[in-house]
Amino acid sequence: MSLSKRETLSCDASATQLEEPKEEMSSCVFGQTKTSTAKVLSQEELEQLNGERALVSEFKQMKLEKEAQKNWDLFYKRNTTNFFKDRHWTTREFEELKACREFESQRLVLLEAGCGVGNCIFPLLEDDLSIFVYACDFSPRAVEFVKQNPVYCPERCSAFQCDLTKDDLTENVPADSVDVVTLIFVLSAVHPDKMKLVLENIRKVLKPGGIILFRDYGLYDHAMLRFKSGSKLGENFYVRQDGTRSYFFSKEFLAELFEETGFQSVANDYVLRETVNKKEGLCVPRVFLQSKFTKPGQSQSS
Ligand SMILES: C[S@@+](CC[C@H](N)C(=O)[O-])C[C@H]1O[C@@H](n2cnc3c(N)ncnc32)[C@H](O)[C@@H]1O
Repeated sequence: MSLSKRETLSCDASATQLEEPKEEMSSCVFGQTKTSTAKVLSQEELEQLNGERALVSEFKQMKLEKEAQKNWDLFYKRNTTNFFKDRHWTTREFEELKACREFESQRLVLLEAGCGVGNCIFPLLEDDLSIFVYACDFSPRAVEFVKQNPVYCPERCSAFQCDLTKDDLTENVPADSVDVVTLIFVLSAVHPDKMKLVLENIRKVLKPGGIILFRDYGLYDHAMLRFKSGSKLGENFYVRQDGTRSYFFSKEFLAELFEETGFQSVANDYVLRETVNKKEGLCVPRVFLQSKFTKPGQSQSS
């Protein structure tokens, strides 16, 4: 499919260009490849990206930061639990969710940071009886949807409202107690200046030797190329029409962020995923970044 056809997509699309909304169920996935190098842009794509130099005003940027929580809460008011598909791919992509127990009957403790309405955690809870999940989000409405899910039960799950950039996770999760943290399409919603605060916060509750499983928007993802003028907030950072924001990660940026916060890189690759929107007959080339980082064990950190 030619790029020009792709560009004819409605400009409203950027408002809903989140990862895997349910309406994309009318799409089929062509395939997925992992690569260590960033996507190479065509001349046309380069011109499109470079043509967009004007940034949203500082005043509006401050308002967006101030209203970030409100905008996500309104997102869930509009979409309730109907926006994202359940993420049944997590155990396929991250074998640690099954395999990182020291002994077979060990109860794995997981933190889903920025859980939304639980599309990541409920497939895991349904699939694995020996797992305890802490789940937090800064949208009170999203947390309420998690608690109302029929699979939710306090013996296996603890959901709470929290702004990962400022509310200390140890108020709800014991320090050094979590085996696995999932950070799935969440860090992209945080201002780049505050991403380190999120990682420092998570670090407090992760066990030494514990792991963070990360998947989020990658550099030059289809959604990044579709933002129209007036949506750019900074380098690789954009705002959607509903006021929610999205950063697009290069692997170098992400590795530096984690390493400066005291984590060690285990894996860090781009995932290229070709989907075809059957209804519109359009090719949608998605780029995600999928990575794993550990908190060094006591002997490694000294
Ligand atoms: C795209 S959703 C992903 C939800 C979930 N991880 C999933 O896989 O379905 C991003 C979520 O991050 C949450 N979020 C954004 N900034 C946050 C912050 N500072 N603290 C906590 N949650 C945040 C939003 O409320 C939203 O629910």
